[in-house]
Amino acid sequence: MTVLVVGSGGREHAIAWKLSQEKNIEKVFVAPGNGGTAGESKCENVPLPGDAAGGEARRFLADFARKVKAGLTIVGPEAPLACGIVDLFRKEGLEVIGPDKAAARLETSKSYAKSFMEQYGVRTGRYRLFTEYERALHYAKQHFKVSSHDAETHDAPAKNASEIIPPLVVKADGLAAGKGVTVAVSPEEAVGALSSFMKEGSLGEAGKTVLLEEYVGGREVSVLAAVSVSPGKPGVILPFLSARDHKRRFDGGKGPNTGGMGAIAPVPDFSLSLEQDFNARILRPTLKGMEQEGMDYRGFIFFGLMIRNDRCFLLEYNVRLGDPETQAVLPLMESNLGDLCLAMLENRLGDFQPAWKDGAVCAPVAVAGELPGFAGYPGAYRKGDPIKVDWEKLAGTGGILFAAGAANAPDAARDPADAGMADGRAALVTSGGRVLAVSAWGADAAEARERAYKGLSAVSFEGMAYRADIGV
Ligand code: GLY
Repeated sequence: MTVLVVGSGGREHAIAWKLSQEKNIEKVFVAPGNGGTAGESKCENVPLPGDAAGGEARRFLADFARKVKAGLTIVGPEAPLACGIVDLFRKEGLEVIGPDKAAARLETSKSYAKSFMEQYGVRTGRYRLFTEYERALHYAKQHFKVSSHDAETHDAPAKNASEIIPPLVVKADGLAAGKGVTVAVSPEEAVGALSSFMKEGSLGEAGKTVLLEEYVGGREVSVLAAVSVSPGKPGVILPFLSARDHKRRFDGGKGPNTGGMGAIAPVPDFSLSLEQDFNARILRPTLKGMEQEGMDYRGFIFFGLMIRNDRCFLLEYNVRLGDPETQAVLPLMESNLGDLCLAMLENRLGDFQPAWKDGAVCAPVAVAGELPGFAGYPGAYRKGDPIKVDWEKLAGTGGILFAAGAANAPDAARDPADAGMADGRAALVTSGGRVLAVSAWGADAAEARERAYKGLSAVSFEGMAYRADIGV
């Protein structure tokens, strides 16, 4: 079978890598792919006319899938799903993994997702929806006033108000490329976020409607899953091993939010009883809701959970696999990913027996860090720095390099002595903020961590930065 993978990140490299290991997969096209997918066996990058979410690219992808007789197209990122790439493919009789545009609202509209959770009894935090700035402002100010007042009634006055005043989550309704959520710990922060989203229009239409949500603190867990729901048929959601992303830039969960600084799978503290709680209070109600809404959802889903007091709360749905969770979860999947996708498409997921490797995988992410004139990811970062890889050393750790913001070096920039070219692989240069991840397996989380960081030490580029505590 020939497969087309849409996207250019580390998640798409991990999907292409997994498919390339499978005997029944002959060819994997990755559109547009990255410097890592270009060098993967059986894989070939396909340049796109413009952004993957754009109309021209969607048309091109459907024509390309037909031309190469792709038995399967897997859409990695949310933007093309939000724009209806699945609707186009299905209308033209092409096999595609992903929700249609209406079902994708579980990620693309936070208000739709919250009302869905409420209607079908999915456990989540409380929220209010606002379309008027003044009303949102009033509500936010009241929140901090009431909370401060409550705080003053405590027996011992707090030394640090932020320790006892619950933060308020300010969330833009639409897709905002990771910039749509502020956890405000003070009225000033809440007002700043509201003003930026609703008055200044910093996120465009995505921030015109805002949710103010109860803050649910605890430990985050991501559960990725395969979904096979079609109108009029009994549906199935098949959860994968749990994973944990580390969203803040710096060790100890400090610093600004990022797209994800690294992941571990499975999560050692996601116990059997939490798994049962997740199944009963989140997964099953979600499935019931999807069936009752008559969704056409044959794709992946990501449950963003918070664990508080031994209970799972759903923070968000994403209608795709997580990045970098995928780079930790797929190396543990023993089952054939192509077959799993076909089972999802043909409503046979209930008969699919997933198999997982024992042990754990840790996947720290290397980012473009601070350099003169550049604050470093998630702020401004430099591109075009050569990435040196000691492939032999990396192989010795069992580590796999999943490229993200890494492109093939232009010929002029190639240094023949660059270790990146040693075994016929093209040299890489940085091209994004999150540059790559090294995923390594271990018998347990501690061993996986040790190997992954050893693997990461085989990679270097100017300004390379990473968190040292992934999976801790
Ligand atoms: N790891 C978070 C995300 O994929 O959005």
